[in-house]
Amino acid sequence: MTNIKFDTSALKSFVKTNELNEIKPMLNTARDELVNGTGVENKMRQWMTLPTDYDQDEFTRIKKAAKKIQSDSKVLVVIGIGGSYLGAKMALDFLHDNFYESMSEDEREYPQVVFAGNSISGSYVNDLIKFLGNKDFSVNVISKSGTTTEPSIAFRIFRELLVKKYGQAEANKRIYVTTDAKNGALRQEVNENGYESFIIPDGIGGRYSVLSAVGLLPIATSGADIDELMKGAADAQEHYMNTSLEDNGALQYAAYRNILYRKGYTNEILENYEPNLRFLAEWWKQLAGETEGKDEKGIYPSSANFSTDLHSLGQYIQQGMRNLMETVVKIDQHKSDIDVPVTGDNNDGIQYLEGRTMNYVNDKAFQSVIIAHTNGGVPNMVVSLKDQTEYSLGELIYFFEFAIAVSGYLNGINPFNQPGVEDYKSNMFALLGKPGYEDLKKKIEKDM
Ligand code: PA5
Repeated sequence: MTNIKFDTSALKSFVKTNELNEIKPMLNTARDELVNGTGVENKMRQWMTLPTDYDQDEFTRIKKAAKKIQSDSKVLVVIGIGGSYLGAKMALDFLHDNFYESMSEDEREYPQVVFAGNSISGSYVNDLIKFLGNKDFSVNVISKSGTTTEPSIAFRIFRELLVKKYGQAEANKRIYVTTDAKNGALRQEVNENGYESFIIPDGIGGRYSVLSAVGLLPIATSGADIDELMKGAADAQEHYMNTSLEDNGALQYAAYRNILYRKGYTNEILENYEPNLRFLAEWWKQLAGETEGKDEKGIYPSSANFSTDLHSLGQYIQQGMRNLMETVVKIDQHKSDIDVPVTGDNNDGIQYLEGRTMNYVNDKAFQSVIIAHTNGGVPNMVVSLKDQTEYSLGELIYFFEFAIAVSGYLNGINPFNQPGVEDYKSNMFALLGKPGYEDLKKKIEKDM
């Protein structure tokens, strides 16, 4: 059983029943490749059983580390990029109040979690140093390879800051490293300095790593319940791995988006009606984009936040190029609600909304958009979540990971590599003069 509902009732004019039947054999093959490990790069499927098969000792150490950070730090600086950052950021936003990260020290029960190493902006780092001021802080540096430029630079800076503030011995106790078990520069630093460290398992790529220590330490430090998160994911694992298309929303999602893609709907917009779901889409964009965008094919993943973006992107979605499909992530039970005030006059023209709540209005916006966009030629799918709890987020993470991995096999590509990500990195190394990249530097300079 899962609480996630996948609704395709708005697809009637875009997909005929027989199309689902036609794709079923291919879908089942893709599913079997994933579940039975007969597809390419099958060693990278460790995320699939992670919710039920993880290192219990490490899980206990993660909780212990989170408690220590909560007791000795006002801020946790999480250093990482891509898959080593987006999952934690998405979860923190999803699980906490919209202004959770802006609360003052006195109002907070748990440390503030901030991110660095997710860009190369000097201004951002200077702003963060200013923000840290005299606050007690710890650092969690996350990098599977241990060699990514952005986090490497940020780690140097914040490690230096820690040493200056606390001295070497105490600084070492405030550094938490999440990286490969054996390889890479970070693992070497752990061995040399005795930092507390956690492992990103070999069989889990960055974009599938949120339920490993990569996501769990920052999430636990923020005060969220990682047991519930894993429980939701474990129940979803049981459901999505063991049910067939008729009962399996993740397989249905993979099937319908593939049917639509083959009809020319090459751009999928992931949408929400809750501002703190914005980073859910950022996480999903990496998951879908890096999994599917290769061999000159794949759905282009994009996002929109409603109703905000209806006032900016709405025009394009309604009447622009007809290559768009939309997937809405909808929350059924909101965290809270508020009445439209009764004023006794109609000066602002919204007296007809008196007696209604904001969530009621939001829901009508959602319904209206589906009708308008469907009429405008944009197919809509809806993924409904029961609520915004850790358990539901665990389910949702698994839903998307499973569906997108199946989608990759269905579209005939390797869902677990990301060869294209390396191209810019090599050029940048060459232009920055990294040893070993001399020939590439000469080639670039010749072509420039
Ligand atoms: O999915 C991926 O592999 C990438 O987005 C990585 O997560 C990102 O490049 C960061 O890599 P690393 O964790 O090795 O620093």
